[in-house]
Amino acid sequence: MKAAGIFITGTDTDVGKTVVAAGLALVLRDRGLKVGVMKPVATGCYGLEERLIPQDAAFLMEAAQNQFAPLTSPSRFRNPLAPSVAAMLEKKEVNIQNILKCYQQLQKHYDFLIVEGVGGLMVPLKKDYYVANLIREMGLPILIVSYAGLGAINHTLLTVDAAVIRGLELRGIIFNRVSVTNYSLAELTNPKVIHDLSGVPILGSLPDVEGLNLDSCQFGSLKEIFQERIQVDKILGGFTHLAPRR
Ligand SMILES: Nc1ncnc2c1ncn2[C@@H]1O[C@H](COP(=O)(O)OP(=O)(O)OP(=O)(O)O)[C@@H](O)[C@H]1O
Ligand SMILES: [Mg+2]
Repeated sequence: MKAAGIFITGTDTDVGKTVVAAGLALVLRDRGLKVGVMKPVATGCYGLEERLIPQDAAFLMEAAQNQFAPLTSPSRFRNPLAPSVAAMLEKKEVNIQNILKCYQQLQKHYDFLIVEGVGGLMVPLKKDYYVANLIREMGLPILIVSYAGLGAINHTLLTVDAAVIRGLELRGIIFNRVSVTNYSLAELTNPKVIHDLSGVPILGSLPDVEGLNLDSCQFGSLKEIFQERIQVDKILGGFTHLAPRR
């Protein structure tokens, strides 16, 4: 049976896709779900050429307690560039058919898949093929991670428009790294404005999480904060199947 899932995209690189994806994995595992993670294309990897390590995938696999590393991150590049550019420099290619094959394999192992994109929707993976195209082929709804401060209206609406034009299903928006004290007027007003203008559900916001460290795979209080502040049921959509706790 095809697993349910969500594709985590963002308004930009570094906006918090991995943090949100890991938070979701931690919470769903806690609910007893068999949750799988995937970072289909990873750039800025380190290590030996034949064993390039994708940091995001390592963090997500730890959060979800997954094991299938080659399936989780099938397309890896050393340069921190758009994948199509990194591929050209490294004389490799982004093999979409292989990514989709790995995705189908993972679907067999898990009930719910969390897939993290690379950059935003319009990052090129190869000629005439963007992250948004991959999402379409995977058939997953998207969750947009954004920031709430000045500039967020423009970036979030551009992302929503790009998704709508390409026929993607929008599950919602999460704002990351919102201030809990000393918030700006923009942070205070932007979420409602973005909701009113786009009609996309706002599923919560995350503050800076204490003790979180991607380099050393520390989650700090991410699970508890995610549970408290994010509408997880709405991310799941109609998916309610509970697998036995492993
Ligand atoms: N809620 C948070 N609390 C504390 N630190 C955070 C939070 N969100 C993000 N960060 C910090 O910002 C960095 C970037 O976040 P993250 O790696 O999740 O972004 P990303 O969108 O996945 O980036 P990329 O495009 O490289 O995949 C993290 O390494 C982490 O240090
Ligand atoms: Mg990431």
